[in-house]
Amino acid sequence: RSVKVRVPGTSANCGPGFDCLGVACTIYNELELTLLEEERLDIEITGDGAENIPVDERNIVWRSIQKLLERAGKAQEYKGAIIRMDNGVPLSRGLGSSATAIVGGLKAANECLGNPFTNRDLLQMATEIEGHPDNVAPAIFGGFTISIVRNGKPECFSLMPKLPLKLVVTVPDFFLPTKAARAVLPAEVPMKDAVFNIGRAAMLTAALCKGNKSFLRSVFDDALHQPYRAKLIPGMYDVFKAARAAGALGASMSGAGPCLIAFTVENADAVGMAMRDAFAKNNVKSQYHVFDIDG
Ligand code: HSE
Repeated sequence: RSVKVRVPGTSANCGPGFDCLGVACTIYNELELTLLEEERLDIEITGDGAENIPVDERNIVWRSIQKLLERAGKAQEYKGAIIRMDNGVPLSRGLGSSATAIVGGLKAANECLGNPFTNRDLLQMATEIEGHPDNVAPAIFGGFTISIVRNGKPECFSLMPKLPLKLVVTVPDFFLPTKAARAVLPAEVPMKDAVFNIGRAAMLTAALCKGNKSFLRSVFDDALHQPYRAKLIPGMYDVFKAARAAGALGASMSGAGPCLIAFTVENADAVGMAMRDAFAKNNVKSQYHVFDIDG
């Protein structure tokens, strides 16, 4: 039996919510899976960055499928698969491409087996593979998500903001692997920076729940990771400034970058153009996209 699933790309951190907040965007990877009893792996990928993705045992979709099969006690029954992927989510740019692949594999395998696992179970498995839950959570639940890990178990709360928030994502023309962007982070941060972020993350969540636009103007800044990563993205703070000047509520790195994201309820195209121009002034070519929240 073959199944088809569609998984959204995601933007993690959303400013102050390092490794905790995330949002599902209206951009998708599509995946068709047929489980095989024989030991045969046939993977075909089309779409963004397809030529850079391994199509053998290393493939992350296949590894995620294997994890779910093992958890279900079915790894001996199904030893192979036919996998067809069409990727809309750009690779290694900060839109959760690896989370989308992991969740795609888990969701498709779960469906092939008749859905023995809940979304919470999938969140557990996806977080074990990815290492942190902030991208995999919105890819599974949709909406704007808050996730935590407690005693090794992730928990996620998903909400749809009570205002028509647009996500303006500007994609520069270079890759930045998450591993490289995590390598520049310090092991410890000053107390005042932690306090800076806690207040903003809490206020951001409350303002989205209530649809309170005026509070959203002061909550997308961050002191925990962006200051250390700024050197990896030329002109980052100029782009944030340009987005605000064009009417955005705020802007931040999308996940570990290099995409930058602005949050706005109006003039989304003007915000995108301003971000693109600010990147260009720093000799970085970019394209912008306007997404809604997938939910
Ligand atoms: N929270 C993660 C980070 C997202 O900023 O490193 C990227 O996977």
